Amino acid sequence: MKSGLSRSLAVLAAMLLTAGCAANQPEQELSAEEIGIATPLTDKPGDPVNGAKLVTTRSKGNCIACHWMPIGTFHGSAGPNMLDAMQHNERSVGWIRQKIVNPKVDNPDTVMFTFYSNEGKSNIRKDWQGKRVLEAQEVEDIIAYLLTLRNMKPETAQQ
Ligand code: HEC
Repeated sequence: MKSGLSRSLAVLAAMLLTAGCAANQPEQELSAEEIGIATPLTDKPGDPVNGAKLVTTRSKGNCIACHWMPIGTFHGSAGPNMLDAMQHNERSVGWIRQKIVNPKVDNPDTVMFTFYSNEGKSNIRKDWQGKRVLEAQEVEDIIAYLLTLRNMKPETAQQ
């Protein structure tokens, strides 16, 4: 009797576990490795000084339109504060590269633009279709700038 009960409990627990996993699957977050582009897009290392210009240039990244960054003025807030994100989210460089190339890969509903890839699920204005907002080297320069935020002391950052 006792063993029968524990067997049914074990079966029930297993069913619940399986049901739980199945229900969670569509919402499961992709791991950094799954969405990362580990290899740089160019052979030349990114230039953080040029990256800093690009994130505030309207015809280029204009990342500050949606992200607070310790540079530029008139920041939008549709996206996360980039100083916080870089200091706390512990993303791999490959993941950050993927996010800039095509942010839809990990979040199909994102409002963030597709800055480099025009393939598959992208989020690019009609008049930009078939074109890239950023050149490969510009993506690398922006990554280099974002990485400088990792070690920036928040109290020294321009507000
Ligand atoms: C139209 C608004 C918009 C613009 C412009 C934009 N982003 Fe984003 N970005 C978002 C939103 C919203 C999120 C959070 C949701 C998501 O993950 O897509 C995000 C997320 C991110 C993340 C992930 C942060 C984290 O750790 O979770 C990075 C990195 C990023 N953006 C970089 C950039 C860079 C670099 C640029 C400029 C080249 C840029 N974004 C331009 C809206 C924008």
